[in-house]
Amino acid sequence: MDGLDTLRDRWLRRIADAGDAAALDALRVAALGRKGQISLKMRELGRMTPSERQAAGPALNALKDEVAAALAARKVALADAALEERLRDEWLDVTLPPRHRRVGTIHPVSQVTDEVIAIFAAMGFAVAEGPQIETDWYNFDALNIPGHHPARAEMDTFYMHRAPGDSRPPRVLRTHTSPVQIRHMQAHGAPCRVIAPGRVYRADYDQTHTPMFHQVEGLALDHDTSMANLKWVLEEFFTAYFGTRVKTRFRASHFPFTEPSAEVDIQCSWEGGTVKVGEGQDWLEVLGSGMVHPHVLSAGGIDADAWQGFAFGMGIDRIAMLKYGMPDLRAFFESDIRWLRHYGFSALDVPGMQGGG
Ligand code: DAH
Repeated sequence: MDGLDTLRDRWLRRIADAGDAAALDALRVAALGRKGQISLKMRELGRMTPSERQAAGPALNALKDEVAAALAARKVALADAALEERLRDEWLDVTLPPRHRRVGTIHPVSQVTDEVIAIFAAMGFAVAEGPQIETDWYNFDALNIPGHHPARAEMDTFYMHRAPGDSRPPRVLRTHTSPVQIRHMQAHGAPCRVIAPGRVYRADYDQTHTPMFHQVEGLALDHDTSMANLKWVLEEFFTAYFGTRVKTRFRASHFPFTEPSAEVDIQCSWEGGTVKVGEGQDWLEVLGSGMVHPHVLSAGGIDADAWQGFAFGMGIDRIAMLKYGMPDLRAFFESDIRWLRHYGFSALDVPGMQGGG
């Protein structure tokens, strides 16, 4: 069995020299595979005499085990080496400056809408919504604005065409958020406390008017809700929104959907050419309001003898301009990237509401 030593040395050397997993596997097949050199040698045992076999058997088995162990060890060594090499090649310089990524900003209208919702939510107001394409019943009639009423003409309404032959009255792009009052009353009844922010449309265009703009409607109904409650709610709102105590002034006015009606001004100063809210001797009109007209309650399916309350409507874009010093409303909707970067808010750094609780 001297030949076995030579055989052993040769296989161990080949295995040590195998450069990769494929070469190693070829060696395994050539040595221990079904027709491998060592397997064939084991098969010769069957043709030996018992005494020959007794000598050769253990030696051959030992050889087979040794070669198998060498194959396994080399396999591990090759895998380790491959990993080492990968670790050396695939390195990452974590000190490199990151590639610049342009991030978007939150539009002032979205920001202010969120602030308004948060402040009113703290006073128990939920958010209501309605469609932007309205029937003229919701936009006008239900709000006590009959067909001949001058308010219809004043509103610069966009009318939607009906199909030829369709004689129903045209639908409109809602001219205000007030129709949401009716829809909310019909769906939920009284008592209620909601605001309805959203887009409204009027054919108008100059520095302070765009054909699409944003309003927020307010509606509060209960058995004894009054103008005094309205005044408190609005002063709390403006104080939280502007972050400084803001006085309001109620001026008698007229709206078809409220009786009595009031226009509300907030205290401001024009010193230095820019407007500052919450100080000074001047007043700035910011909203319309009043006690909900009994006809409007009835249109909403509410018993006007049992329930009463206030409503108001305010321009969101307008109070955004006031708080953040944006002079031209048209720029809000021109999608000029420079304006958006300048006036937009970082998603991770939005101003909170101040003192709004
Ligand atoms: N809808 C009115 C407008 O767009 C604003 C308004 C005034 C809403 C008085 C109200 C209100 O709810 O009570 O001009």
